[in-house]
Amino acid sequence: MAKIIDDISRTFQEYLLLPGLTKKEHVPSNVSLRVPIQRFTKKSGQRISLNIPFVSAAMQAVSGPDLAIALARKGGCAFIFCSQSIEEQAEMIRLVKEHKAGFVESDSNLPPTATLRDALVLAKKTGHSTIAITKDGTQNSKLLGILTSKDYWEFKDDLSKPIKNYFTPLEKLVLAEEGISLQDATEKLWKHKKECLPIIDKKGNLKYLVFRRDYFDHKSNPDELTDEQKRLFVGGALNTHDYKERARALMDAGVDALCLDSSDGFTEWQAEACRHLRKEYGDSMVLGGGNVVTAAGFRYLVETAKVDFVKIGIGGGSICITREQKGIGRGQASSVIEIAAERDRYFKQTGTYIPICSDGGLNNDTQVIIALAMGADFVMMGKYFAMTEESPTSKITYQGRLYKPYWGEGSNRARNWQRYKEGGGSGLVFEEGVDAYVPYSGPLGEKMDVTLAKIRATMCNIGTLTLRDFHDNAQLTRVSEMTIVEGGTSSVEQLDRISSNG
Ligand code: IMP
Repeated sequence: MAKIIDDISRTFQEYLLLPGLTKKEHVPSNVSLRVPIQRFTKKSGQRISLNIPFVSAAMQAVSGPDLAIALARKGGCAFIFCSQSIEEQAEMIRLVKEHKAGFVESDSNLPPTATLRDALVLAKKTGHSTIAITKDGTQNSKLLGILTSKDYWEFKDDLSKPIKNYFTPLEKLVLAEEGISLQDATEKLWKHKKECLPIIDKKGNLKYLVFRRDYFDHKSNPDELTDEQKRLFVGGALNTHDYKERARALMDAGVDALCLDSSDGFTEWQAEACRHLRKEYGDSMVLGGGNVVTAAGFRYLVETAKVDFVKIGIGGGSICITREQKGIGRGQASSVIEIAAERDRYFKQTGTYIPICSDGGLNNDTQVIIALAMGADFVMMGKYFAMTEESPTSKITYQGRLYKPYWGEGSNRARNWQRYKEGGGSGLVFEEGVDAYVPYSGPLGEKMDVTLAKIRATMCNIGTLTLRDFHDNAQLTRVSEMTIVEGGTSSVEQLDRISSNG
């Protein structure tokens, strides 16, 4: 008969952390959230790392180039989804790698023959009032001047007039040539008391605009995650079908980390794909595998597939219906606890540390903290990022509130056949994900600042300054249902009710 393991599948919500001694040095500014994303040995020490313990899910509704840029600027890494053509995915990776912090490609451009009304309409559409006037009105043609909202008065000037009488011509602009550093560009802006510095190439074609305000934005992201050439760090997802061609295209585009994206990674297909990729690209490439929920699955991916990090989680995702559809999965806390123990055992036995990632089902900042305390080196989230301004979808309004669409990779909408096809199967006969909406939560940077502040504060309560120490020193207790009620704000609701009744 089947083996029934003596264990109840548990979720993060069922645990609370107990405080440890907080010493005077345990203050948030001393906390480091740097975590490994690549396997390392005691001898080699930590190799490639994330500056914060966050990666974004390889999903159509989550990880596009804008989100990847925003997340890398905070110190984490997005995994660009593979449920699209190889060319499209490689192009997204390229866009992130080509992004130069502080160097903006002008999205508002007009030819000199355009009218003030054209300028006004364009500024409203893009939300940017600085318009580059170029010879043919395209982004990278010869720069002729700059028009800003200060150059005309919407309510007084004749809007049918051509902009050529209004914009500041080239000879009156302060310019810089391509190749200038952000620091030097900003100094030039300050020296000449300008807000915007156009960057041109040797032929006088417009390349970028540098804005004074962006420098401070750049400076306010000290954890920015970059490669050796200071380009933003980005990951790409692979499936077990076209991984050979896909990996080649992503590597050519400059990808920094690859990850096999599968709802069940404890398979020979995944081991075969990983072995091929290792052979092709060597040990320096960051390669993740998953998902698994048992120690046996972890060992298999580490020893047979030789992955760098292992992703944990089946059935916990907010849009996931795998457990209902197939009866497979495990409470995310139970999976993380078992695999973190196995990771530590493996480290003790072999001297090699394999980072683990808790993927899916994190509903709030507290659950992120509990996942990290239980031993996850970093977490992967879908919904959290889908809600932000930078996710690839458009906002919609419903009953006065803003929402963003969010759908599973196993839903009909994503039609990610490869991922759920499992080797020889033929197409999607049933769905494993739903198509939904999530509340809009604003810009990623602002949201993450709050989450990171909470993690740092909790680590200080426990008396730890690194996530490694947090794993080793955290003490957790199981909670009863009544403890959850006690921890809520039921008495405040009671008062509210009294006052509204009265
Ligand atoms: P969330 O952070 O709870 O929204 O979960 C995101 C995670 O759900 C992803 O990283 C995937 O592991 C998983 N996932 C994505 N799409 C599907 C699906 O359609 N069915 C089941 N799981 C999914």
